[in-house]
Amino acid sequence: MCGIVGYVGAKQALEVVVSGLRRLEYRGYDSAGVAVVSDSVLVTRKRAGKLVNLESLLGAEPLPESTTGIGHTRWATHGVPNDANAHPHVDCSGRIAVIHNGIIENFAELRAELSAGGHSLDSDTDTEVAAHLLEEAVERAGGSLADAMRAVCARLEGAFTLVAIDSRSPDLVVGARRNSPLVVGVGDGEMFMASDVAAFIEYTRDALELGQDQVIELRADSVLVTDFAGNPVEVRAFRVDWDASAAEKGGYDLFMLKEIAEQPKAVADTLLGRIGPNGELRLDLGLPEEALRDIDKVVITACGTAYHAGMIAKYAIEHWTRIPCEVELASEFRYRDPILGRRTLVIAISQSGETMDTLMAVRYAREQGARVLAICNTNGSTIPRESDAVLYTHAGPEVAVASTKAFTTQVVAVYLVGLYLAQVRGDKFGDEVRAIIRELADMPRKVDIVLDTVEPVRELARQLKDATSVLFIGRHVGFPVALEGALKLKELAYMHAEGFAAGELKHGPIALLEPGTPVVVIVPSPLGRSVIHDKIVSNIQEVRARGALTIVIAEEGDESVEAWADHLIRVPVCPTLLQPLVATIPLQVLACELATAKGHDVDQPRNLAKSVTVE
Ligand code: AGP
Repeated sequence: MCGIVGYVGAKQALEVVVSGLRRLEYRGYDSAGVAVVSDSVLVTRKRAGKLVNLESLLGAEPLPESTTGIGHTRWATHGVPNDANAHPHVDCSGRIAVIHNGIIENFAELRAELSAGGHSLDSDTDTEVAAHLLEEAVERAGGSLADAMRAVCARLEGAFTLVAIDSRSPDLVVGARRNSPLVVGVGDGEMFMASDVAAFIEYTRDALELGQDQVIELRADSVLVTDFAGNPVEVRAFRVDWDASAAEKGGYDLFMLKEIAEQPKAVADTLLGRIGPNGELRLDLGLPEEALRDIDKVVITACGTAYHAGMIAKYAIEHWTRIPCEVELASEFRYRDPILGRRTLVIAISQSGETMDTLMAVRYAREQGARVLAICNTNGSTIPRESDAVLYTHAGPEVAVASTKAFTTQVVAVYLVGLYLAQVRGDKFGDEVRAIIRELADMPRKVDIVLDTVEPVRELARQLKDATSVLFIGRHVGFPVALEGALKLKELAYMHAEGFAAGELKHGPIALLEPGTPVVVIVPSPLGRSVIHDKIVSNIQEVRARGALTIVIAEEGDESVEAWADHLIRVPVCPTLLQPLVATIPLQVLACELATAKGHDVDQPRNLAKSVTVE
């Protein structure tokens, strides 16, 4: 979860690297550091805390001019966030600087070997071993930093993106990746390497997608990519489909507010081009139709918010296709010995495409012979590359750590997959599929309506500022929405929040209720599956009878809840299965506003990072 930037070209490297780190700070902000090569001398600056601390240091102790440099913003795994543990790390001779994202799992034995060999390691990090290994390897490699990197990578176990510079090769930046993100930006007479295209998007939108176990040599006018054995490899070029302004706040105080507001467009963009003129679905999944007709089980795997989208998918896919569908936390999936085979379709949902738990689940599923479909928001990321097929969401860059538009577009994407399966397999009559697709196509408008009516939610959030606990309950697809609302509150307001299947309250959790406990209730449409609706109205009465403060999300016109709602939040009428697309939004706003009222850093909450690239 760290942010990495490398640059070589004609510009002042420091300016490019720090600008890139600003765009990557969402990946981790425990410390930051930079290194440049100037007149064949390596110079580094690093400081604990957010990037602003490093910028203060650079103001006080400026770096010399240089056109080759690297930078890092850290999410600590080994070693507390202090100056000594900040990256870059340097070898004994002060010749080589290296930055790292991931975990070097055999660092302890390597550290012991290096110390025994006379190296002086002065940090508690796993990364520092790479600096000293490079120091030894570059001598053996006759001065070739790339050869040294290949030799060192062959000794490392675990997940790593490494980027290094060498004072004796002032026009070169060398990178390597295994199980951790790295992408190349191709400029005009300049080259970039970074964890995410956001770091160099203001300079170029031309990028190269890198594969597993690869070493990259960047010079101002050349890129050379090999495998760890030194064999040249082909890499895929792509053009980033959003611009630098999309990665900025666009006039909003917070990235999260911007991304909440972008949801109508994000939902519309995710549908764009995927619905044919006659209302049929056109998904280029990259999986043959006969393979889709042969599926006898679907397993959805993801983490966090993406997992909640997967829970919603289960209801939709089973209802539309009658294919058994399991939903598994990626961090549990491969350790429970799941039953997978060539007729299993595993759907891996990930906004970043770099979540290690989900990536490991994808690998395991493919080893077991299952086909894997990735649902992802990040072009060029690892999970889609290692899957059999991918359906991209088109939410645009999501910078705030708390996921919002990624969630709603993930839900849209899994609906599309479920409907497409029904269409291809004939599990649903064509007119039924087309009717649901028409409803889906109207959701951007309904999402917009919700956004226009959330001001009372902001006021309510401020009233809840001092609450110590908030419960969320829902039934059917409202249950994953309840879990998602609770997660938002935990990660942003740092307060206890818990989501429950409403029917479960009476089996224990209702004992949590005290007079005034806020309980958020997601009420399904009274139309269609009204039995669920009536039962949750009973649940509202149960909690109200025990003094709860009831905050009810219900659709326009549903009068049955009015007598029991202390606060009533209205959402547009829509089919039960599609309701999460509108019911989740007030919960996002509630959490964002409550965290703001508490004075928290909403875009970069404590202890979190946007992409969890360690297991
Ligand atoms: C949700 O707000 C969090 N950012 C987190 O739960 C996130 O959804 C999870 O880490 C999965 O990330 P991914 O979608 O990038 O794989």
